[in-house]
Amino acid sequence: MAELSLPKNSVVRKGETVNTANGAKRARTFSIYRWDPDDLDDKGNAKNPRMDNFTIDLDQCGPMVLDALLYIKNEVDSSLTLRRSCREGICGSCAMNIDGTNTLACTKAIADCQGDVKITPLPHMPVVKDLVPDLNHVYAQYTAIEPWLKTDTPAPNRERLQTHEDSDKLNGADGHGPAGCILCFCCSTSCPSYWWNGDRFLGPAILLQAYRWIVDSRDEATGERLDALEDPFRLYRCHTIMNCTNTCPKGLNPAKAIAEIKKMMVERL
Ligand code: SF4
Ligand code: SF4
Ligand code: FES
Repeated sequence: MAELSLPKNSVVRKGETVNTANGAKRARTFSIYRWDPDDLDDKGNAKNPRMDNFTIDLDQCGPMVLDALLYIKNEVDSSLTLRRSCREGICGSCAMNIDGTNTLACTKAIADCQGDVKITPLPHMPVVKDLVPDLNHVYAQYTAIEPWLKTDTPAPNRERLQTHEDSDKLNGADGHGPAGCILCFCCSTSCPSYWWNGDRFLGPAILLQAYRWIVDSRDEATGERLDALEDPFRLYRCHTIMNCTNTCPKGLNPAKAIAEIKKMMVERL
């Protein structure tokens, strides 16, 4: 039987415990992943990550997990590092793993979490600091699919118009089409195929984006876009495990988009 062992720096230590709830009725504990590349041990190596526990009074903050994190950052420990911008599920920057599920901290209600709330960065991504994943690789993959309108025909005097049926392919008749993707990467970081082959497999987020341009009636590079995906790894590492669709906080269906691309590949043979 294969013996697996983890590198020493993968062990997560027990961290600080801070209680600012002062016996409040609505006290809640948030167990938060902390790692600082500048926090070094005696030998000059970065210390292992740790889980800090913060118990706070929920009456002092808003109802969402992001509200609790910002309360902790503003009132308890200003060194806590996370990304956020819009606070309403639009920018995708507050994506993290909450209670074992990749989701957006700003749209995840604390009331929907059971017991202590465990918060870690998106899994299987390098960590910059605390809850901030390094997105350089996924954005390089995004650039690789050339996510812009490509045309050969001369530009018209006004916009390139679409029928309602064609725009539904982007927005979805139910509002859950590929154009609704906010590039939060909850899906790619929940995909086992992407965990193991993320260097070459594009993953569900980027493939959904590729699909978004393939089905855009105004784009004139469909064949070229399909050619670029015709590869044993870039597209075909998807094994329809469906984690991506199950976790998408915007209710999108990247697994279906990937299946549609595979179908187009077969149909054009
Ligand atoms: S359906 Fe494909 S892309 Fe989605 S989680 Fe499964 S293997 Fe990954
Ligand atoms: S498909 Fe959903 S989970 Fe994936 S990046 Fe887009 S919005 Fe996020
Ligand atoms: S802060 Fe923008 S999606 Fe959460």
